[in-house]
Amino acid sequence: MSLLEQLGIKHPILLAPMAGVSTPLLAAEVSNQGALGALGLGANTLDSALQQIQETQALTPHPFQLNFFCHESTALNTESNTLWSQHLAAEFKKFGANPPTELKCIYPSFKDNDDFLNLCLDTQPKAVSFHFGIPHQYQIQKLKQAGIITLVSATNLAEALAIEEAGIDIIVAQGIEAGGHRGIFNAQIDGAIKTSDLVTLIKKHSSLPVVAAGGIMNGQQAKAMLNLGADAVQLGTAFVQCKTSNANVAYRKALFDHPLTQITSSISGRPARGIINHWQARIDQPDRPHVAAYPYAYDLAKQLNAFAVQHGDTGFGAFWAGSNVGQIRELEAQDLVNQLVVEMNHS
Ligand SMILES: Cc1cc2nc3c(=O)[nH]c(=O)nc-3n(C[C@H](O)[C@H](O)[C@H](O)COP(=O)(O)O)c2cc1C
Repeated sequence: MSLLEQLGIKHPILLAPMAGVSTPLLAAEVSNQGALGALGLGANTLDSALQQIQETQALTPHPFQLNFFCHESTALNTESNTLWSQHLAAEFKKFGANPPTELKCIYPSFKDNDDFLNLCLDTQPKAVSFHFGIPHQYQIQKLKQAGIITLVSATNLAEALAIEEAGIDIIVAQGIEAGGHRGIFNAQIDGAIKTSDLVTLIKKHSSLPVVAAGGIMNGQQAKAMLNLGADAVQLGTAFVQCKTSNANVAYRKALFDHPLTQITSSISGRPARGIINHWQARIDQPDRPHVAAYPYAYDLAKQLNAFAVQHGDTGFGAFWAGSNVGQIRELEAQDLVNQLVVEMNHS
C-alpha cells in the first residue's frame, strides 16, 4: 500500500505538527485540500488536547495526525537547574524580576503514562507521530491494534533503523535545515545531516516509507525530495505565516524581518532551530554553564520571555523556523497547499 493510501490523502504533503503554533483550523484547512493536517499536542494538557481534536474533527471529515513528545524524562537535577537560573539572573534583573527558584517539568513524555495513548485510542485519529523518541512497545501495539498509523522522526540512520525495528509504520527524515526541535534521540554527537542526504541514506537501508522534513518551502523543493525517493514531504515553517496558525505578531514579523536561523539548546535544553535572537546572540557564549535539561530550561525560558514581553522586548521568544525561512510566502493554508501541488506538478 502506498503512503497516500495508508494515510488516506490525495497529495504527498504533510503539515508539520507544531506545538503552540498549529491550530484546529490550520490542520483542517490543510486536510480539506487533500494533504495531511496535524495537531502538535506535545505541550497540551489532556483537556486542551481533546478539545483541539474535537474541534478539528468538526472542521474536516478528512484524516489528520496528532503529535506527541516521546523523550526520556530526565530526573530533576536541582543543582544544574539552579546554576542555569543563576546564570540568567542578570537577564531577569533587566526586567525587574528574579529567576524562578524551582524549575518544573512542563512537558511530560508520552512514555510517562498512558493518558495520551488513551486519548488517541478514544479519538481514533488516522495517524499519530512522535518526536524525541519511540513509544513503548505495548503503546505501539495498542495503536496498531486500533488501526492508527504511526510515524517517528529520525535525524540519522541509526534512529531510522531503530524506528523500523520497533514496528513503526513511517519514518520522518528530519534534516538539519528543519525548524523547531531536532527529534534527535540516540546520538551523543549530532551528525547534522541534510534532509536530502538523510532521505537518500534511509531509503537505501530501510524499506519503510519516508517523509522528508526540513527546509522545504515550495513545490520544486518538495519534488526534488520525491525524486530522491521520499514518499512525501512535511513542511512546518512554510505554514507558520498562514493566518490560521497561532504565531503571534512579533513571531510573524521576525520571520520576514530577520530570516536568519541558528540551532540553540539554550531555550529548552534540546537543540532547536529558530530565528536568531537574544538566546543565540547573547546567551550562547562559550563560557555559559551547561543548560538545564529539557524541559526544565524551557520553563525558565518561557518565564523570562513573559517578563521581557511585558517590557516590550520580544527577543527571548522561541521563534522556531527552518533555515530556508527567507523563502516564506504569506498565503492562506489552502492556497499554499494548492500552490505546492501546482509547483510539484510542473517541476
Ligand atoms: C514552529 C515549529 C514547531 C514545531 N513543533 C514540532 C512539534 O511539536 N512536534 C514535531 O514533531 N515537530 C515539530 N517541529 C518540527 C517539524 O515537525 C519539522 O521537522 C520541521 O518543521 C521541518 O522543517 P521546516 O520547518 O523547514 O519545514 C516544529 C517546527 C516548527 C517550525
